[in-house]
Amino acid sequence: MAERGEAHQALREATRADHEALDGMFGRFDLGDRDAYRAFLTAHAMALPAVEAALDAAGFADALPDWPERHRADAIAADLAALGAPLPAPLASPAIADAAACWGAAYVLEGSRLGGAFLARQVADAWPKSYLGTSQTPGRWRAFLSALDDAIATPQDIASAGATARAVFALFGEAGRRQLETT
Ligand code: HEM
Repeated sequence: MAERGEAHQALREATRADHEALDGMFGRFDLGDRDAYRAFLTAHAMALPAVEAALDAAGFADALPDWPERHRADAIAADLAALGAPLPAPLASPAIADAAACWGAAYVLEGSRLGGAFLARQVADAWPKSYLGTSQTPGRWRAFLSALDDAIATPQDIASAGATARAVFALFGEAGRRQLETT
């Protein structure tokens, strides 16, 4: 088993630049503007449900029992429906090669909740925000990281998780770029 915190630190380092780039790109959506908010949600709907489904297909619930409760595809779909926007065609999820890759992908999805509360404050009260509103509680994030550190044991695991995490960041980047081009 890796030292406590080691796998998390490695994933954070491996994806730091990807997060910065994505934060900058999604910062270009003015969430106080209804059309831009719809485009932001549409971008996330192109990426997140595909990765959730890939994790389901890989049996990730066996590794993280509360994984099904962490899903947010329904929350994005509900928000888009309430805004009168269609669900977009999903992009293809990165391939999930092994158990460690599952943890890398899930790390990105779970981590993405951390900025949610901050982003939700920019959205008008009258608009639906079940997706951004399902922000991460400190306890659930800690429990996730603890399970991650228990599960990722070898340098090979860290490499697989890191590569998959970066591919998931890239997927969100692609979705965001496509939406910025059309708005
Ligand atoms: C404008 C958009 C975004 C903002 C403002 C933002 C903001 C933040 C903030 C403030 C944190 C740190 C929270 C803390 O340490 O308590 C964080 C962490 C994180 N975010 Fe984002 N984020 C954004 C978009 C995204 C997206 C789209 C993804 C992935 C799809 C993502 C993935 C992550 C991950 C994986 C972490 C955990 C980093 C760690 O290991 O500590 N973020 N984000």
